[in-house]
Amino acid sequence: MRILYVVGTRPNFVKTAPVIGALRARHPEGRHALVHTGQHYDRLMSEVFLSELGVPAPDYMLEVGSGSHAAQTALTMERLEPVLADERPDLVMVPGDVNSTLAATLTAVKMGIPVAHIESGLRSFDLTMPEEVNRIVADRFSQWLFLHSPEAVTNLEAEGIPDERLHMVGNTMIDTLVALEDRFRAAGAAARLGVEPGSYVLVTLHRPALVDGPLLGETVAQLAALAQQLPVVFPVHPRTRKMMEGMESDHPGLRLIEPLGYLDFLSLLADAGAVLTDSGGIQEETTYLGVPCFTLRDNTERPVTLTSGTNTLLGLDPAAIGRIPVLLGERGPAPAEPPPLWDGRASQRIADAILS
Ligand code: UD1
Repeated sequence: MRILYVVGTRPNFVKTAPVIGALRARHPEGRHALVHTGQHYDRLMSEVFLSELGVPAPDYMLEVGSGSHAAQTALTMERLEPVLADERPDLVMVPGDVNSTLAATLTAVKMGIPVAHIESGLRSFDLTMPEEVNRIVADRFSQWLFLHSPEAVTNLEAEGIPDERLHMVGNTMIDTLVALEDRFRAAGAAARLGVEPGSYVLVTLHRPALVDGPLLGETVAQLAALAQQLPVVFPVHPRTRKMMEGMESDHPGLRLIEPLGYLDFLSLLADAGAVLTDSGGIQEETTYLGVPCFTLRDNTERPVTLTSGTNTLLGLDPAAIGRIPVLLGERGPAPAEPPPLWDGRASQRIADAILS
């Protein structure tokens, strides 16, 4: 069997690494080719992640880089098509919901190659999010849909996707977290940054709806105010860094730092008193770790993190950041158990499904 995995961004690497590992181990005589589209390309967004996750060097680097949605998607398709023609895989495996996912799905399906989608069935019901469009296309054209939460089944059934394509396997991002747990627990990132475990708020923000317009300035002002009560550590995504250029960002207690490698990031996440984010994956990781998470968005495609996890939706409203200390004081204990099948074995279930 010939499998080709296509990844492009930081979270893609995290979701796919354990699946490649499981399929390679279970089917060593098969071909396992890895394509990196280059959607993320900075060392701190790409290489560091691949090496920490133990992913071998990609077989193909498409070096697509940044661009408008159309340009990035089109260039990925153009560069991927000859790779698929040479490799002739039996299956193309794509994770998540980024432009690389969309491009790889469309390229494969037009060449008659079956597609498998990891993290299928998530819906925010907000078509202004580029990721929502990417998810719908990937799910519509995939033959194998790997799901990690019950609402994914409801969403896909409502879109008329036949049940035989759906496989409830669990969360491959949590597989990676479980596999790295001993290492990130020993990484001591908080001590290196001079913050006390349990005392600080860890922040990540990168979505266009928040960082590409006037809300970013208000958000930084709110973070500066929060930092007077609790230390705030904010590893800044390159997109956000660009939008912050020229903005006053030197405030006591507010630590703006470079993006972190995954081990250091998970170390800071596990030791945080609370997390403020607009990321999808971090809503899941905090749920697993039992760390309170506040999401600065109007919706989430991951409602299981609200019902069985530690996530609270603040809305796309920087002023809500001021409520975090009070909300933290009012919280009950974190749920004792993560959602079902978030157990570190999702990738094995994917391998079971494909190899059977
Ligand atoms: C993409 C995904 C988003 C995901 C995020 C994770 C889409 C539509 N969006 O958003 O769903 O949550 O990745 O990080 O696919 N840049 C760099 N270096 C890099 C990567 C990006 O400087 O390695 C800069 C680019 O110049 C660009 C900006 O960051 O201006 C945006 O990068 P892009 O990959 O287009 O989108 P993300 O915001 O990363």
